Amino acid sequence: MCGIVGYIGHKAAQDVVIGGLRKLEYRGYDSAGVAVMTEHGLDHAKTKGRIAMLEEHLEGKALQGTVGIGHTRWATHGKPSNENSHPHLDATRKFAVVHNGIIENYLTIKEDLQKKGYEFVSETDTEVIAHLIADLYNGDIEATVRKAITMMRGAYALGIMTEYEPNKLIAVRLASPLIVGIGEGEAYIGSDIPAILEHTRDMYILNEGEMAVLTRDGIEITVAESGEPVERDIFHVDWDLVQAEKGGYDSFMLKEIHEQPQAMHDTIGSRIDLEHKSVVLPELKMSAEQLAAFDRMYIVACGTSMHAGLVAKEVIEKLTRIPVEVAIASEFRYRDPIFTEKTLVIVISQSGETADTLAALREAKKHGVTVLAISNVVGSSVAREADEVIYTWAGPEVAVASTKAYTCQSLALYLFAMYLSQIKGTQTKEQIAEMVDHLLEIPAQTATILENEASLREVAAKVTEGVQNLFFIGRGLDYAVTLEGSLKLKEISYIHSEAYAAGELKHGTLALIEDNVPVIALATQPELFDKTVSNIVEVKARGAYTLGFAFEGDTELAKTVDEVVYVPRTLPILSPVLTVIPMQLLAYFASTARGLDVDKPRNLAKSVTVE
Ligand code: F6R
Repeated sequence: MCGIVGYIGHKAAQDVVIGGLRKLEYRGYDSAGVAVMTEHGLDHAKTKGRIAMLEEHLEGKALQGTVGIGHTRWATHGKPSNENSHPHLDATRKFAVVHNGIIENYLTIKEDLQKKGYEFVSETDTEVIAHLIADLYNGDIEATVRKAITMMRGAYALGIMTEYEPNKLIAVRLASPLIVGIGEGEAYIGSDIPAILEHTRDMYILNEGEMAVLTRDGIEITVAESGEPVERDIFHVDWDLVQAEKGGYDSFMLKEIHEQPQAMHDTIGSRIDLEHKSVVLPELKMSAEQLAAFDRMYIVACGTSMHAGLVAKEVIEKLTRIPVEVAIASEFRYRDPIFTEKTLVIVISQSGETADTLAALREAKKHGVTVLAISNVVGSSVAREADEVIYTWAGPEVAVASTKAYTCQSLALYLFAMYLSQIKGTQTKEQIAEMVDHLLEIPAQTATILENEASLREVAAKVTEGVQNLFFIGRGLDYAVTLEGSLKLKEISYIHSEAYAAGELKHGTLALIEDNVPVIALATQPELFDKTVSNIVEVKARGAYTLGFAFEGDTELAKTVDEVVYVPRTLPILSPVLTVIPMQLLAYFASTARGLDVDKPRNLAKSVTVE
């Protein structure tokens, strides 16, 4: 998730663009850059670091001109560095591109271009766009871009300018958000409303697959591939800047909950071979043989990331039959873990800077053990120190309570488990293909759950109003995800809750169940369904108020519980990434109903860099 700004008009483009980028730093802040059409042609400046560094860099040598594009980066392909910063230019420096999102087939395009002699200076997927456009250019930038996007697969938004047509900016949206601002003799591009709000409140919101051509005389919107004109109503923005930063949502947490379909898509997209319905992990440096040789794994992490690890344990063991132990990072390093040369340690960290996780990683490395990191921040300490990294492409997570990072961590680990099982031959091609089909549906199914958000507000009121204690129960994978549901509720609503393996309740905790104590029970695992229902009956008999979670069509559960939340049907093994969504919303509504600060819960920090 990066920030894009573009401007064409009569003001100093560099000032407008950098001013807009400052408002988008919440979308990414590891490097920044700007390109301006000067009287000497296309010029640009870019640097690793925050936007302030770019401004410092430009002090006394401002790029003079009234057309420009700029970018603030949240690294995906390639670490934060000057070379990987945007804008990216082609070899002749006549075309400049800023990009948000992922080009899934960039490696194939890159190889084709390399064969034609194009040389690449960065590790990014974006640079291929600049070279591709230069390669295809036929004197008409609009037609060229239309052609180029037919060759690019992925979810992205682009801002493009060329010295050959200096009075024009091109904006393209495919999945990643993009807006175009309307001015008098000027026009703007922004990947979010705050980027341009200080200049205009009248905008067009581009839909998926649309292109806008911006000149000083106006804005033309068309279907990107066909060129067919599109009529769009003006969207007048009444929000203030803070509301705009949250995309109109009340909080970053709610915004991030809603970003999950996109984040999931980005995390899965380029790692699926659609033709063969299999998983590819090109980022792994170790060979298939090396990977297949591991006979034992530790997953080490903290909090929500550790909960994603609990889901992964079940999945890896089921798909590959390799034993996996999940360890809390703060405990792991002090317990003298058993390492052999066939042990793989997987560390999970959204921030990549959590002190306990980093210490656990170093402990493993000290013993010569291979470490694979799952991280959301390219170039983070965990990512740098691990032997291997699989990134979750969730984009920056601002709210303290992790939501989209959890679902993307889980998905990255599903992909890893599937990949490993392909290598080891522990699952058949058909079984993997079936999982791939269902995995690809998860983003849209998540969007469906989010569309019914209002019903969760009512459920949250019924279950949490006036409540001080609450229980979550489930078995197997359902139990793993209840731990995350319970943590989410605790940290933002301050309601005490506990997650229990449903069968374990009767060994002590059942004593806490009395009239109207809410119990939230997950029952998505068919082979455990009857057992879970028996446990629900046990708590009901003690007076509990019960809320069940089941797959759509599983109407059996409704006969036992007081209230049911249905999630779209998927394979039982994939259920955690869907059942967690209503649990995130439950926690969110419980918190807002109590008037609490959802984004900044008391006593907590986003990244815990102390032991
Ligand atoms: C809870 C939450 C924390 C983090 C934990 C690890 O919502 O966000 O429990 O998951 O502090 O953080 P990372 O993943 O950055 O290592």
